[in-house]
Amino acid sequence: MADIEYDNEAFFQEYAKMTRSQRGLADACEWHMLQPLFPDLQCKRVLDLGCCYGWHCKYAVEQGAAQVLGIGISHKMLDESQKRNADPKIEYRLCSIADYDYPAAAWDCVVSNLALHYIADLDRVFANVHRTLKSDGTFLFYIEHPSFTAGVHQGWVYGTNDRLLYWPIDNYFLPGERVTNFLGCEIRKQHHTLTQILMGLLRIGFVLEAVEEAEPPANMMDLPGMKDELRRPMLLVKATEEKNIKYNCLRFTSHDVSASRRQFQLFMFSNC
Ligand SMILES: C[S@@+](CC[C@H](N)C(=O)[O-])C[C@H]1O[C@@H](n2cnc3c(N)ncnc32)[C@H](O)[C@@H]1O
Repeated sequence: MADIEYDNEAFFQEYAKMTRSQRGLADACEWHMLQPLFPDLQCKRVLDLGCCYGWHCKYAVEQGAAQVLGIGISHKMLDESQKRNADPKIEYRLCSIADYDYPAAAWDCVVSNLALHYIADLDRVFANVHRTLKSDGTFLFYIEHPSFTAGVHQGWVYGTNDRLLYWPIDNYFLPGERVTNFLGCEIRKQHHTLTQILMGLLRIGFVLEAVEEAEPPANMMDLPGMKDELRRPMLLVKATEEKNIKYNCLRFTSHDVSASRRQFQLFMFSNC
């Protein structure tokens, strides 16, 4: 198994140059909104889908998690996670999000940061995560916003003097593969509509606790390109099976669904 994109040497080198790659979560502009949505991880078991360098796995251990499994399909990224974020409580495993076996009621928290927009069959992942969560478990994820994945080549339209004019969206209601350019390389992602994502979660039995459209923090606004992140949305959602999902911009009322309580959070963002 190999991730033809993340294992591509040129892409790998460019990815390593990003500030968030060099300095970790504190320099990830979504982190100030994602972090508060984590549940208490003390003595908990945490599964990270698409772990990459393992920043969220390490964070889970720092928060007291007893056991963490990070899965990913890039050899290079997993090697990097061992170098940067190794810990006796963390296992990094070469395994795709589609192929993991998702044992029933095994995990307290499933997190996925900027990986689910690579997945074509999101409903299947939602069903698997729902099964593998213990009752009272949390599903927290951050995914590119549909207005981002529906962006034409996921790029701005430029005017004179390289001025950004607008972010074009097309074929919104045609989900599926999008070929994009990220860090100078051709990257294939999957576009899902907002309805597909949110209704997919609700249909499988999650309850949305919160949905947030993330914005960079004030202290990062002066970084190059960061103000432009205010020109198109990024989204974060948190849901539970029984109650509570938190998002900044869309708030869903909590309600009982079943005796078990599972949570998910969805955090949509751009450019990763
Ligand atoms: C943008 S990175 C995000 C990494 C990490 N979660 C973070 O926030 O720092 C996306 C990661 O998802 C992984 N990935 C993409 N498709 C995957 C799949 N089908 N199964 C497992 N991992 C996948 C890539 O190899 C890459 O490491």
